[in-house]
Amino acid sequence: MGNTTKSQKRVSAKNTVATFFIVFFVLAAVICGMFAMDFFSGEKHSGVTYTIGKTVYTLSAKEAYDGDTLLVCFDDIAALCEMTETGSAQSRTFFAANSEQSIAIEAGSRTALLNGSKVDMLAKAKLRDGKLYVPLAFVEQYMSGIAVSHSTDKGDVQVLRGEYNASTKNNPLYQDTGFTGTAEAPLDPPEGSLDKVAPTYSFVTDLSAYEQYMCPEDTDAYLILVNRSATIDAGYVPDNLVEITNVRQDGRTERMVETAEKALQALYIEMRAAGYTDVSVTSGYRSYEKQEYLYNLYTENEMKAGISRAEAQKIVDTYSAQAGTSEHQTGLCCDMHNLSSASQRFANEEAYTWLIENCYKFGFILRFPEGKEDITGYSFEPWHYRFVGRYHASEMHRLDMCLEEYIAYLGENE
Ligand code: DAL
Ligand code: ZN
Repeated sequence: MGNTTKSQKRVSAKNTVATFFIVFFVLAAVICGMFAMDFFSGEKHSGVTYTIGKTVYTLSAKEAYDGDTLLVCFDDIAALCEMTETGSAQSRTFFAANSEQSIAIEAGSRTALLNGSKVDMLAKAKLRDGKLYVPLAFVEQYMSGIAVSHSTDKGDVQVLRGEYNASTKNNPLYQDTGFTGTAEAPLDPPEGSLDKVAPTYSFVTDLSAYEQYMCPEDTDAYLILVNRSATIDAGYVPDNLVEITNVRQDGRTERMVETAEKALQALYIEMRAAGYTDVSVTSGYRSYEKQEYLYNLYTENEMKAGISRAEAQKIVDTYSAQAGTSEHQTGLCCDMHNLSSASQRFANEEAYTWLIENCYKFGFILRFPEGKEDITGYSFEPWHYRFVGRYHASEMHRLDMCLEEYIAYLGENE
């Protein structure tokens, strides 16, 4: 009996040890398995709490992330920004309130159409429960009028309307929400600035300090083409607009992109040294609205001859661009002459001869030359000069090409 009890005790002790090891190994296996699943599933992120306007909700990491890209519900942002929309659940265009700006998003596509231009969102848009999700970084980059904040460690994302900073925190500044950053897209110059070395020219004045502007490093950045078919976004305003130094002395202020303006200063120094002292700038950068105003003004003037608006516009279209089609909105061109108003009579002036013989050395081209009207779409404008930088201006001079011809030529040869 005593023996039996001893052996039972031994068996029982063995069982306890075995059970302990089994439980230990099973638990270890489960924990390792969980880690392994996590590792292999690539689930590196925790869940995300979103606040979009007043809506707060939580998504699991799986729902919130596409790889490392954090997605955000665009439907909620559109509602927050009071956008209107058209299309199907799968493929929709959202329109910003109070503007023509829009974005078209398609589930499964990385490309969005932002104000008509293709933009890479860096991750595909996703459709979930009838709502479109897009990368948060894309929203941050291209949307204006909203405040986006996120703390990736805590997984909190906030998208609010208005501007929030220390002084506006409790009373945010509201502005129209919309889409920005697209103006550059249709304006993208042809690729390939390599090996484009601008020629050197000798001047009678010392223009060495201006070389950097006449021959900008980003050679192709000034080749923007704007005309009736290559339009410019209504909201586009160039960076670095500065006042034009050599403006007509009648109290007006005209502006231009800084690099172009500096190159223009060089042109004026040399032109004055050559004896032409009465030429001045009468027009530089024009906003979309200013161009619209001018076009309408010219139309009303033509109508005074008793013709219809349509007939008047036909005439105006030969010498004035409609808003959104004028390169004055790029801030890269100016009108300059020595007459009381811009007129083809300027072509009879010696100053004009000097300008067309020399402007390319400073990076400028005569934008609407005589004989190229069918290509540019406008009548001869001896007063309108456009900055493209010395390399391209010299090439266009050598090839005797206007901007439309030259851009096409580059497209075929690069
Ligand atoms: N006069 C030129 C064509 C413009 O209005 O932009
Ligand atoms: Zn002009």
